[in-house]
Amino acid sequence: MNPAKVRALFNELSPSYDRLNRLFSLGMDVGWRKQLVAAVARQNPTKVLDLACGSGDVAEMLQKALPRAQVVGLDFSRSLLTQAKERCIPKLAEADALQLPFADASFDAVTIAFGLRNFSDRAAGLDEIARVLKQGGVFGLLEFSPPPMPWKLFWSLYLKHLMPLVAQVVARQGASFRYLAQSIAEFPTPSALNHELASAGLKLLFSRSFSARLVMLNICIKS
Ligand SMILES: C[S@@+](CC[C@H](N)C(=O)[O-])C[C@H]1O[C@@H](n2cnc3c(N)ncnc32)[C@H](O)[C@@H]1O
Repeated sequence: MNPAKVRALFNELSPSYDRLNRLFSLGMDVGWRKQLVAAVARQNPTKVLDLACGSGDVAEMLQKALPRAQVVGLDFSRSLLTQAKERCIPKLAEADALQLPFADASFDAVTIAFGLRNFSDRAAGLDEIARVLKQGGVFGLLEFSPPPMPWKLFWSLYLKHLMPLVAQVVARQGASFRYLAQSIAEFPTPSALNHELASAGLKLLFSRSFSARLVMLNICIKS
């Protein structure tokens, strides 16, 4: 999907975004984000960029875990950023993650939760992340992953059929959730993703999967 359409989709989804996230993950999304934040906070960064921050879930958790750090949230959806503002995240930027308005090597850590698969050019996005990270800086990526068999059968049913149906009934957002399900199916497998990360100079330190291989946490170091 082109970037203007992705932005319009998230602007439209914003009033029900957090509620639908909790509903469809049965509240587990909070725990997945906590794992991302804990892994990044362990490195004790002083300047952290949360890309595709949406309504600010991860940026808020990062600021609480690292009270002395400067946390910056960035997104291109104005409606979601308005919600992030209400959460007292001190620094927010409205910009495209493919053209970051920051100097080279200006962050100790970059995080992104459920945003990378929406980028129109993933390689360019990863290159930008590597550019703004300091040498040895940490990149924490939390993202859906196309699950292998036999989990794939269960998740296909849930993501392609049940989720859009429920999203349509409770929030008239069936079409948006069909796109979200498709973007998960089209995302690279863990080994292909690892290859893309390495091409951008992001060396995988460790990964963990959650919820029957549907969600993956990858922690990388800029090499
Ligand atoms: C599924 S939401 C995730 C939001 C948040 N990180 C979370 O954990 O709930 C994806 C976000 O990526 C943002 N996004 C997608 N492509 C982007 C881009 N090129 N630049 C900036 N933000 C982008 C969308 O506006 C949306 O807020």
